[in-house]
Amino acid sequence: MTSIALIGPGRHGTAIARLFARSGIDVHLYHHRQTKAQAAAALVRAAARDADVIVADSLAEAVDGQNVVALTTLWNAPQRAVLSALGDHLIGKVLLDVSNPLDVTPQGIIPARPREGSAGQFVATLLPQGARHAKAFSNLATAYIEEGAGDAAVLPFAADSAATAALVRPYLARTGWHPWLVGGIEISRDLEIGGRYNAVHGRHGRSRLDLEEMRRYSGPEAVLA
Ligand SMILES: NC(=O)c1ccc[n+]([C@@H]2O[C@H](COP(=O)([O-])OP(=O)(O)OC[C@H]3O[C@@H](n4cnc5c(N)ncnc54)[C@H](OP(=O)(O)O)[C@@H]3O)[C@@H](O)[C@H]2O)c1
Repeated sequence: MTSIALIGPGRHGTAIARLFARSGIDVHLYHHRQTKAQAAAALVRAAARDADVIVADSLAEAVDGQNVVALTTLWNAPQRAVLSALGDHLIGKVLLDVSNPLDVTPQGIIPARPREGSAGQFVATLLPQGARHAKAFSNLATAYIEEGAGDAAVLPFAADSAATAALVRPYLARTGWHPWLVGGIEISRDLEIGGRYNAVHGRHGRSRLDLEEMRRYSGPEAVLA
């Protein structure tokens, strides 16, 4: 549990990369534009504590040797492009999906309705057999990613199995957030924009509950097969 890959560091992904790097986890970044990769790496290095920030030249180079691959592009077409290019490189790894079903258009940001029910369930259709799938950070505004971590606020997450949850949980816990399994990938909508873990207010502010608030709001952690 010393490193992760992160694909597509834009606004949200760079904040997530900074969160891991400041927690001492090396981050292997891949962006399809070299200048954006270097700019993101500089921002992540500025936050890193005892962690290396490596810019990979290819998707395969970024993910090989990693157990967790955070995919932080916009949903839909960029996810299709990345996941089809990665293909079997993802087998045995956890794909950490942070996406919301929002279309970014010249007219503005437009909520989409995935046929599958949620962006998480859409991503599930793109993964090769043998890849693992977890979902987190989609309920949080970018500004809260680093801010919430020092105060043991709950980080709700979903996973496709108990084994996947057990693999990803220590990475999430290392950041200072308190990971809380809320269900399988079929409940992704609850973690996405407008869902019950996004549209909730607690002591820490919107989308952030402490342990006691989470217990009252959601009951005990989910148990998966
Ligand atoms: N921003 C938020 O407050 C927030 C909150 C919760 C969840 N999220 C989720 O986080 C994800 C990212 O949102 P964002 O606001 O960070 O968007 P963003 O700033 O546009 O970042 C996405 C990045 O992915 C890059 N990218 C596109 N295709 C790529 C590829 N094939 N390989 C590598 N990189 C690629 C984009 O580069 P180019 O644009 O240069 O092509 C862009 O820099 C979305 O799924 C969103 O729903 C965002």
